[in-house]
Amino acid sequence: MGPLSAPPCTLHITWKELLLTVLLFIFWNPPTTAQVTIEAQPTKVSEGKDVLLLVHNLPQNLTGYIWYKGQIMDLHQFITAYTIDTETIISGPAYSGRETVYSNASLLIQNVTKNDTGSYTIQIIKRGDKIKRVTGHFTLYHGPHVPRIFSPLTYYHSGRTLYLSCFADSNPPAEYCWTIDGKFLQSGQELSPRITTEHSGLYGCSARNSATGRERSTFKRIKVF
Ligand SMILES: *[C@@H]1O[C@H](CO)[C@@H](O)[C@H](O)[C@H]1NC(C)=O
Ligand SMILES: *[C@@H]1O[C@H](CO)[C@@H](O)[C@H](O)[C@H]1NC(C)=O
Ligand SMILES: *[C@@H]1O[C@H](CO)[C@@H](O)[C@H](O)[C@H]1NC(C)=O
Ligand SMILES: *[C@@H]1O[C@H](CO)[C@@H](O)[C@H](O)[C@H]1NC(C)=O
Repeated sequence: MGPLSAPPCTLHITWKELLLTVLLFIFWNPPTTAQVTIEAQPTKVSEGKDVLLLVHNLPQNLTGYIWYKGQIMDLHQFITAYTIDTETIISGPAYSGRETVYSNASLLIQNVTKNDTGSYTIQIIKRGDKIKRVTGHFTLYHGPHVPRIFSPLTYYHSGRTLYLSCFADSNPPAEYCWTIDGKFLQSGQELSPRITTEHSGLYGCSARNSATGRERSTFKRIKVF
C-alpha cells in the first residue's frame, strides 16, 4: 500500500478529536473569566421593545470593549466599540443604528427585531492587550405574524374530509382558533371535519401570542360542491 492509503479510522479519530477540541473551545470557560457576566434586561423581550445587556463585574484597568453579534469575534459581526481613555465610540459593520454602548460596557439595543435575537459577545481589552471574552443572549418574543391557511384540496366535495391547517410565525408558539362565517368553530391548529354542504363558508383562523398579547387573523372562502 502506498503512503496515500492512510488507515481511514485514524483519519476518523483525528476529526473526532478536532471536533472535540472545537467544542471544548466553545464551551470551556476559563475560571478567570467566570466572574464577568452578561445579564439581559429583560431576559425575554417583545419585538419593538428595548433590551439592555448589562455587564457585571468588569475587571480593573481596561482600555476598551468591543461588542459582536453572535458568539465569535468576527470583524463582520463587529457592532460597536468603546475606548475608555478617549471616551470614543466606534461603529462596525454590524451596527444597525439602534445600539448604544455605555462607558460601563453595557449595550442597549432599541426597537429589537427578529434579526436581533440570539447571542452577543463582548471582548474586554485589558492593559497589556490581555483579552477576556463573554457571551450573553436574550430571547425575543415576536408575532404572531399574519397566519396562513393550508389545504391539500382545491375543490371540496361532500363526503370527503376537509383538512385545513393554520400557521403563524410566533414565539412562543401561537394559540389558534377557527371560525366559520364569524362564529367560533373550534380551537387548535388543524381542522378536519367530514364535509357536508353546510361546510361552505368563510373560514377564519386567528393566531394569538399570549406573551406579546397580539392576535392576527386570516380568512379563506370554501365552497363545497
Ligand atoms: C492598574 O493600573 C495602575 C497603573 O497603571 C496600577 O498601579 C494598578 O496596580 C493596576 N491595577 C490592577 C488591578 O491591575
Ligand atoms: C451601565 O449604564 C447604563 C446606562 O447609564 C445603566 O442603565 C446600567 O445600569 C449600567 N450598568 C451597570 C452594570 O451598572
Ligand atoms: C421600530 O422598527 C420598525 C421596523 O424596523 C419601524 O417600523 C419602527 O418605526 C421602529 N420604531 C421606533 C420607535 O424606532
Ligand atoms: C433580517 O435579516 C434578513 C436576512 O439577513 C434581511 O433580509 C431582513 O431585511 C432583516 N430584517 C430586518 C427587520 O432587519
